[in-house]
Amino acid sequence: MNSHSMAFLFFALLLVTVECNSEGDALNAWKINLADPNNVLQSWDPTLVNPCTWFHITCNNMNSVIRVEAFGNNLSGSIPREIGYLNHLISLDLYNNQLSGVIPRTFGNLKSLIFMRLNSNKLKGTIPDKVIKLIQFGNLSIMNVSDNLLAGSVHRHGFATTTIIQDAKA
Ligand SMILES: *[C@@H]1O[C@H](CO)[C@@H](O)[C@H](O)[C@H]1NC(C)=O
Ligand SMILES: *[C@@H]1O[C@H](CO)[C@@H](O)[C@H](O)[C@H]1NC(C)=O
Ligand SMILES: *[C@@H]1O[C@H](CO)[C@@H](O)[C@H](O)[C@H]1NC(C)=O
Repeated sequence: MNSHSMAFLFFALLLVTVECNSEGDALNAWKINLADPNNVLQSWDPTLVNPCTWFHITCNNMNSVIRVEAFGNNLSGSIPREIGYLNHLISLDLYNNQLSGVIPRTFGNLKSLIFMRLNSNKLKGTIPDKVIKLIQFGNLSIMNVSDNLLAGSVHRHGFATTTIIQDAKA
C-alpha cells in the first residue's frame, strides 16, 4: 500500500468513526437530559465507538442506527432535536412514557422513517409541518401521537391509506 492509499484509508476510517460517534452523541445527549427511573438506558455508554451494542438500539450493517425502542419505562424529559439527525432511522418507539415538550421539527429530516410511535406521553404543541409532509409523501407510514397534550387533532383524511394517525387530544 503506498502512502496515498494509506492516507485515504486513514481519512475514510476517520470519517466513518466520526459519523458513528455523532449518532451515539445524539442519543447520549438525550439520555443525560432524561429521568430514567428504571435505568433502562444504563447500557448507553458514549465512550463506545458506536451505539450499536446499546440496549434498545438497533443498527444496520453499516452501523447506522435504524431503530430506537424505549417504550413503557416512565422516561421523562423532552426529546431533543438531535434525534432528528439519526438519518437512517426507520422506527422510533417512545410510547407509554412521560415525555414532555414538543415534537422536534428536525423529525421532518428523518426520511427513512416508517414507524413513529409517540403515543401516551405528555407531548405538547403541534405536529411539525415537515413531519406532516413525510406522511403525505408516504415516507412515514405509521405515526401514533394519541394520548398526549398536542393541540388540535389530526385525521387520516387526505393521507396515504397505510398511514394510521390517531386523533390527538385537543
Ligand atoms: C411508572 O410510574 C408509575 C407511577 O410512579 C408506576 O405506578 C408504574 O409502575 C411505573 N411503570 C413502569 C413501567 O415503571
Ligand atoms: C420520500 O421517499 C422517497 C423515496 O421513497 C424519496 O425519494 C424522497 O426524497 C422522500 N421524501 C422526503 C421528504 O423524505
Ligand atoms: C395509538 O395510541 C393509543 C394510545 O396509546 C393506543 O390506545 C392505540 O392502540 C394506538 N394505536 C395503534 C394503531 O397503535
